[in-house]
Amino acid sequence: METELIRRLAHVVGDEGLVLDEAAQAPYVEDWLGKWRGRTPVVVRPRNTTEVAAVMRLCRQSGTPVVPQGGNTGMSGGAAPDDSGAQVILSLNRMTRIREVDPVNNTMTVDAGVLLADVQRAARDAGRYFPLSLGAEGSCTIGGNLATNAGGTAVLRYGNTRDLALGLEVVLPDGRVWSGLRGLRKDNTGYDLRGLFIGSEGTLGIITGAVLKLYPAPLGHATAWVGAASPACIVSLLSRLQAQCGERLTAFEMMSARCVDLVRAHVSGAVCPLEGDHPYHALVQLSDVAPEGLPELLERSLAHVLEDGLIADAAIAASETQARSMWRLREGISQAQVRAGKAVKHDIALPISRLAAFIDEADAALAAEFEGLPIVNFGHVGDGNLHYNVLLPPDVSQDDYARLTAALNRRVHDLVAQRGGSISAEHGVGRLRRDELRRYKSAVEMDLMLMIKRALDPDQLMNPGKLL
Ligand code: FAD
Ligand code: MLT
Ligand code: ZN
Repeated sequence: METELIRRLAHVVGDEGLVLDEAAQAPYVEDWLGKWRGRTPVVVRPRNTTEVAAVMRLCRQSGTPVVPQGGNTGMSGGAAPDDSGAQVILSLNRMTRIREVDPVNNTMTVDAGVLLADVQRAARDAGRYFPLSLGAEGSCTIGGNLATNAGGTAVLRYGNTRDLALGLEVVLPDGRVWSGLRGLRKDNTGYDLRGLFIGSEGTLGIITGAVLKLYPAPLGHATAWVGAASPACIVSLLSRLQAQCGERLTAFEMMSARCVDLVRAHVSGAVCPLEGDHPYHALVQLSDVAPEGLPELLERSLAHVLEDGLIADAAIAASETQARSMWRLREGISQAQVRAGKAVKHDIALPISRLAAFIDEADAALAAEFEGLPIVNFGHVGDGNLHYNVLLPPDVSQDDYARLTAALNRRVHDLVAQRGGSISAEHGVGRLRRDELRRYKSAVEMDLMLMIKRALDPDQLMNPGKLL
């Protein structure tokens, strides 16, 4: 990298805004899964939108590629640089301002680098609720959530990140700023630019700020852990609970027995609330601003399905501690997989009505073709989203890992496509699914996306090698 560019970047962000030392760069150049490790000449950490715009102008003038980065918790390799050593990382981790909370409009305006947990906390402090919730909330940023259109465990009731943002501020690849920080629920004045940048994975511009939707805070919840014989039973349970509890059903997560065993083996203190062997488990949560009768409703609803033989057993959390322990068991799955081996990760979406048949078919296909490889199947069944992963031993060679990943992707993704599904529900395409995308998107869809990319980023400097 030209020292001249570094000198100019330092002029914009100050010396403390640059990370040049290789050891200090370590947390920025490798992703959370430890799957992608690249190199960068410099990590640039601007403090505000004006500085981001100046950085982008300098990078454009010098033809320097830019990798935007939030908390670096993404699951698709989108925030890690390649190994050319030419890509600058633009980290938003110094942009952590809650700019405004408007409890009457039920909105909050924030810098993109605010941690998701801090957004949730600021909403709580204002007597409101920001519902986006996921295992990485203590380290991911709202900008990263927007750039990946993250999902998580409350989508069933509140939608994904795209549904939770009313306005954006974006620095374009040429350094211009689009100020779209509008807190409007209705605005029909042309193309949906906000929707375009959400989920664009840093390939069209840098999200620097957002207006987020707030909700009334639920004042209580009821949580249960359920054991059942099959995914079909779990999907039927979902329908029954939706019919009986309506919008009070705010989370519905499924995991196979293997996931539960994996967490118990690799995450300290993880306990399954049920005794006995159950091939599948579900974590169910009801919540409401008027919480009276929630535990009774959950108990009644589960008693009916138990009587009907749809589920085998259920435990309702008797305290907040028990509810938290149930969530720990669910949210420990990601960490447990990293500790247990190398996962071939899938993040698929299907119509909920086709989930159970998909699992049966995919299980049979993988058992026949990849004998003995353990399937780690879990996900947000209430949203039709499965992480249908396959775990390889920790000492698998790089060659075998690559070969098996390609073969497993082909088998699983082809089945998903045949059933009208998507190869990424919430983690995005990044580097992980870039080649897969071309196989499953139509020529017209690819062409439209490439036209948008060329129009906004004609020099191809924004997060090269990701998504497209
Ligand atoms: P990064 O990892 O830093 O970046 C992700 C992508 O967004 C990259 O392409 C990057 O270039 C781009 N980007 C980041 N910030 C900006 C910006 N300001 N402007 C433009 N582009 C930007 N995801 C889910 O959807 N649901 C889950 O349930 C879930 N659970 C998780 C649990 C664990 C334990 C972990 C580690 C991850 C989980 N994730 C989940 C994945 C991840 O946390 C989300 O994708 C999150 O939204 C990424 O945020 P980040 O700030 O870490 O983004
Ligand atoms: C989850 O649902 O826990 C996440 O999306 C993370 C993962 O897939 O590991
Ligand atoms: Zn998930």
